[in-house]
Amino acid sequence: MTSSSWEEFFAVHLPPTDFEDNRSLLKEFCERHDQYGNKIVLVTSGGTTVPLEHNTVRFVDNFSAGTRGSASAEYFLEQGYAVIFMHRQKSLEPFTRHFSGQKLLDMLDIQERGPNTTITVKPDSVDVLAPVLLRYKAAHAAGAILYVSFTTVSEYFWLLRAACECLANLGPRAVLYLAAAVSDFYIPKDKVPTHKMQSGSGAPVIQLHLVPKMLAPLVNLWVPEAYVVSFKLETDENLLIPKARAALDKYKHKMVVANLLQTRHHRVILVSPEASQEIVLTREEVHAGVDIESAIVGEIVRLHAHHADAAPAPAPR
Ligand code: PMT
Repeated sequence: MTSSSWEEFFAVHLPPTDFEDNRSLLKEFCERHDQYGNKIVLVTSGGTTVPLEHNTVRFVDNFSAGTRGSASAEYFLEQGYAVIFMHRQKSLEPFTRHFSGQKLLDMLDIQERGPNTTITVKPDSVDVLAPVLLRYKAAHAAGAILYVSFTTVSEYFWLLRAACECLANLGPRAVLYLAAAVSDFYIPKDKVPTHKMQSGSGAPVIQLHLVPKMLAPLVNLWVPEAYVVSFKLETDENLLIPKARAALDKYKHKMVVANLLQTRHHRVILVSPEASQEIVLTREEVHAGVDIESAIVGEIVRLHAHHADAAPAPAPR
């Protein structure tokens, strides 16, 4: 398996068609919050795809639904952060995540009266809907959240770098919370067929190549002063902490949130250069609908405050 450098990746893969629009949105959002001295977190969420054809019918995907990222974005908002929510198109989003599938329709009643038809929220659903709706309206009224989306791994990287370019001005007030499940393997652009692969010529042999790790330029070049949190997903408990520690040693960022696929929604380990802290939800908490992201974000906000306070005063711009 061969691997290209991150520079080569950007040289070969063109930016997505909506890239300039997204870049303008990111710039405006960061400048506005920077003016007020706000903290901004970039939350990445959901999985990236790897297309098997340029006119894409088929692609390699992964399991991530965006549960972690969408829940975390809500808790960062609650803590007063402005949030760039960079997510896989059609994955879970903050606020609406509470009502996915048929849940929302089940909360409504309809009184059919022709042109005077009315739709109301069932009385016993108001208690569920109202707090979420209030938080949603408040976040939007304050301009505290920006949604940008990706599908492929190359779209993800273009957006990630653009967001970092805008966040760099915030220095230590920026947090990167890289919860998206990013593909480690891809097919280089020149090896991807233009049209739908045909079955007539037999089963295709597909060679995957290594995607360059973007954490390296991100930490060292793009946002060197930011508080960077990466995630480590494994399926083998024995690998989890050693690999999280190896990532910290290699990239020198602030924290790795380590989780196992099987238990990720009720157990994580926050691994920093100084310590490891396990967060486990009890069975009762899981049944009561407690989000583990509330505790993860709470701890990161606490540590980020030290990081931002300890940083030297910014040079006048
Ligand atoms: O969405 P959910 O269902 O709630 O699941 C949440 C989650 C399990 C996806 C999330 O908690 C998580 O662990 N996300 C990271 C998964 C992952 O990509 O792990 P990794 O070990 O492959 O990558 C480690 C880190 O390297 C990641 O923070 C990633 O941003 C970064 N990376 C990955 C690939 C790549 N080419 N460059 C990178 O910089």
